[in-house]
Amino acid sequence: MTRRITACFALAGLVTLVTPTLADEEKTMTVYKSPWCGCCEIWTEAVEAAGYKVVVEDMEDLSSIKQQAGIPDDMQACHTAVIGMNRKYIIEGHVPLEAIDKMMSERPDIRGIAVPGMPQGSLGMGYDPSAEYTVYSLGETRSQTPEPFLTTGR
Ligand code: CU
Ligand code: CU
Repeated sequence: MTRRITACFALAGLVTLVTPTLADEEKTMTVYKSPWCGCCEIWTEAVEAAGYKVVVEDMEDLSSIKQQAGIPDDMQACHTAVIGMNRKYIIEGHVPLEAIDKMMSERPDIRGIAVPGMPQGSLGMGYDPSAEYTVYSLGETRSQTPEPFLTTGR
């Protein structure tokens, strides 16, 4: 009897251990950025503070990363991040947390999201929740034209 109860507790412990681990996998992100980029650093810290597990890959030239990720020229920003373990999404530039949350909960059939350039008031660029800028989705194939995914400040 005692043994069975112990087994039950062990199993319950396993279940509670496994569940957060799966969620953690989806909160794991690699950020490719220049070691001298200040706004990249602020964005990375904000994402970390929001509970994402971030691995930073500092590199002087990010062009190979942008090319590998297939970021169109007009969608490029200072840093490129990849989120997720099994299903990976690209996060290009100063993407706000609400857009990351939306993508990770809705899991759309896109390659990722991007905030081109470095809009003033975006996350890492003097964050201002009322700042208006567009987060674009990068289509499933590289030839697709990016479409608005979310507009901030409204
Ligand atoms: Cu920047
Ligand atoms: Cu950056």
